[in-house]
Amino acid sequence: MKAKITANKHFAIGDIDKRIYGSFIEHLGRAVYNGIYEPTHPTADDQGFRTDVLDLVKQLNVPIVRYPGGNFVSGYNWEDGIGDKSKRPKRMELAWFSTETNEVGIDEFQEWAKRANSEVMMAVNLGTKGAQEAKDCVEYCNCDTNTYYAQLRRANGFEKPFGIKVWCLGNEMDGPWQICHKTAEEYGRLATETAKMMKWTDPSIELVACGSSGPGMKTFGDWELTVLDHTYDYVDYLSLHSYYGNRDGNTANFLARAEEMDRFIKGAAAICDAVKAKKHSKKTINLSFDEWNVWYRKSGMEAKGKNWPVAPEANEEIYNFEDALLVGCLLSTLQNNCDRVKMACLAQLVNVIAPIMTENGGKAWAQTIFYPFMYCSKYGRGTTLRPIIESENYRSKEGFDIPYLSASVVDNREKDEVVIFASNRSLDEDMELNIDLSGFEGYSLAEHVELYCDDLKAVNDKDVSRVLPVNKEVTDAASVTLKKHSWNMLRFTHTR
Ligand code: AHR
Repeated sequence: MKAKITANKHFAIGDIDKRIYGSFIEHLGRAVYNGIYEPTHPTADDQGFRTDVLDLVKQLNVPIVRYPGGNFVSGYNWEDGIGDKSKRPKRMELAWFSTETNEVGIDEFQEWAKRANSEVMMAVNLGTKGAQEAKDCVEYCNCDTNTYYAQLRRANGFEKPFGIKVWCLGNEMDGPWQICHKTAEEYGRLATETAKMMKWTDPSIELVACGSSGPGMKTFGDWELTVLDHTYDYVDYLSLHSYYGNRDGNTANFLARAEEMDRFIKGAAAICDAVKAKKHSKKTINLSFDEWNVWYRKSGMEAKGKNWPVAPEANEEIYNFEDALLVGCLLSTLQNNCDRVKMACLAQLVNVIAPIMTENGGKAWAQTIFYPFMYCSKYGRGTTLRPIIESENYRSKEGFDIPYLSASVVDNREKDEVVIFASNRSLDEDMELNIDLSGFEGYSLAEHVELYCDDLKAVNDKDVSRVLPVNKEVTDAASVTLKKHSWNMLRFTHTR
């Protein structure tokens, strides 16, 4: 099959905010305990963080990590996780039915983030708690004042504020599963009053209001309209969450879901702009896609009824090759919407629906989805160009025409290189891709990385990695072969 991609240096979608390559660590299962933190592990550092895990996280170049939840945050008392560890309470954790030991809290996590070359995106509890606790947390983390919570931070050994810039106003408050779930009216009012207090405490912070927890929620649309009607003047971003799965074993349909993400983003942006117009506002609300991934095999409820275990195995999704293909396509969708999506978090980072897995006391390794994320995060920096795609289509189960070619083009002016991320969604035919890059005279293909496996269901485990990227031989030809069901990175550098 033949396909063509055309891009022009002067036709840009927008500059990529590096925070679209963010991720997420929740107090859930083995994400924190025995994931990033395991003081008895042979690689543990002075604070008990696993350095083998940190090394893998650093390879992903994750600029921002959302913390501490997720559903967890809606029952969390952030003050349980600060100060003297021996005095911290153990709590029944009602989101995932385990015991929270509070050995790790914001004191430790902000330190871990520094070691991971990342910044923290902090979520506050708008389930069981409210505006006062959120404001106190901002003071503890960010203020240099001579007041109670700033002094408490100093007494706990942190002279300098943590400087956390991005704060989420609760999590998935539209979901009936959420601890103290709210109606859009209730949440809109609470988020507004909380936002006011948080920004009065530190005017430099940016706030994310909860959008729907998925495009399939019955309330999607109405929820956003009501919440934004209340919060518009006080917040900076609207959150989007979505998880994808291949429940009926139809891979072509599964790979088409990157277009569903695109429709979700465009719909949410349209709603933001409708409220903007209605309010005669000059301000634009951008999007934070702060939970996205493949997730359909596990429920996260593995600990329920098991007597409140500490750090149980929960949500440990094992990713196969087709999952990595979809993750590659989803990343192109995020890049192609960089004019509105300013932050995004691959949910999650370690053990829990994650690219990185660990064994207690043992190895850490990369799952299949690690690789497209790593290359996009490392090389997908700069300006996204509008890709003109000429490709045969197939019809998805939902009745959409899906081009076999999924692609994004990133112009990295700092490095004088242009990078194409391209997937061939055909399950049985290779693709001869013709590339027309205008305005890039003197550039030539320097690197072609291919992620391909004959077996769509192949996985990586602690001993064997069946899905690994390979460097292909490059030529001067104007076209490149994209193998059937493959993800590719084509990096062109300036040669003159
Ligand atoms: O990422 C796992 C869970 O998915 C989060 O806790 C929640 O926000 C979402 O439903």
